[in-house]
Amino acid sequence: MKAAVIREYGKIATEVVPTPVISDNNVLVKIKYASICGSDQHIFRGEFHPRTKLPLIPGHEFAGIIEETGKNVKDLFPGNKVTVDPIIWCGKCIACQEGHYPACTSLKLVGIDLDGGFAGYISVPSSMIYKVPDSVSDEHAALIEVLSIGFHASSRSGLGKSDNILIMGSGKVGQSILHAAKTITSGKVIVADVLDERLAMAKSAFPDITAINTRKTDPAIIIKEVTDGKGVDIAFEAVGHEVPVEGRHNPVRSCINSIKGGGTVCVLGLSDHPAEILMKELIWKEAKIVASRVSHGEFKKAIEALGKGVLNPSGMITGILDLDEAQKGFEMLENDPGNHLKILLKIS
Ligand SMILES: NC(=O)c1ccc[n+]([C@@H]2O[C@H](COP(=O)([O-])OP(=O)(O)OC[C@H]3O[C@@H](n4cnc5c(N)ncnc54)[C@H](O)[C@@H]3O)[C@@H](O)[C@H]2O)c1
Ligand SMILES: [Zn+2]
Ligand SMILES: [Zn+2]
Repeated sequence: MKAAVIREYGKIATEVVPTPVISDNNVLVKIKYASICGSDQHIFRGEFHPRTKLPLIPGHEFAGIIEETGKNVKDLFPGNKVTVDPIIWCGKCIACQEGHYPACTSLKLVGIDLDGGFAGYISVPSSMIYKVPDSVSDEHAALIEVLSIGFHASSRSGLGKSDNILIMGSGKVGQSILHAAKTITSGKVIVADVLDERLAMAKSAFPDITAINTRKTDPAIIIKEVTDGKGVDIAFEAVGHEVPVEGRHNPVRSCINSIKGGGTVCVLGLSDHPAEILMKELIWKEAKIVASRVSHGEFKKAIEALGKGVLNPSGMITGILDLDEAQKGFEMLENDPGNHLKILLKIS
């Protein structure tokens, strides 16, 4: 089979590798589309070294059709449209034993810690497979993993059906939260970023949102206006490595300042640098900070919402390339992040 392989950081190229052989509990999936994630960009740049072992076939966001099933697999059949939850919990650590799987101390992901889906086929245990209805397009199916992150953040934050929210960061994660949250709340939604193009993508998917470029406008002023002086119920931080803006607080502190008394800040960004916050700003509001990591059980929510047509992430897809063009895809995301968000690799 063909696979896109990273043999040295900064380079990814297709080569012919052996097609995986399945064991009795596994399923062989013929991959149709895979999507390039921000984590793949970290891997590509060498920022996940030494966690990532080269050579590596990346790819943890992908979907396809079952080609073959192992003899112990009873409820899945060749021809089923499926996606793969890439997360492997250890099941033994304290967090796993308490059922708090995203906090697993040795959590691994297909496509990061072992070979993934930028390939013709992948073999995974049947427990990692989710069936996808035929009404969901192959392209949208490849976004189920990232959308499940948006649903997980919504559930971690306790998002209710009329909550007003701020999403700080209109990137891949921020817009996944946006698409997921819009299926839950009919409240006001404000999205903030430093790139007009990314805000425009969010706005074109949901014209009723308020988009703020924090380089040009102080988000605190707009948030007050939009929420009648109250502040938002929930603020999601989906920036990570921030581009500092003079005169503005860092994204986490901005989120704290944007919420109402008793509100919630939900943090997702995986920055390597500390974010300075002033505790009394949190305490005065008797507010909560919760963290959200990957997903747990939200694949079903994303699949159901896509199947019903209440979730349409077409606006997140900014390009579809062949697997052979993976290098170009990574370079487009690196060099022109304003105009690219989710780039899909068409595999079969
Ligand atoms: N917690 C999780 O489950 C989880 C899952 C995936 C990714 N992540 C992390 O989430 C973060 C975001 O990932 P992504 O793929 O969306 O990245 P991204 O680069 O696509 O998005 C980040 C966005 O933040 C914007 N930004 C930068 N500085 C800003 C500022 N000062 N104010 C407002 N916006 C600003 C950027 O312009 C960009 O649009 C990363 O740190 C990533 O590692 C977390
Ligand atoms: Zn991802
Ligand atoms: Zn564990």
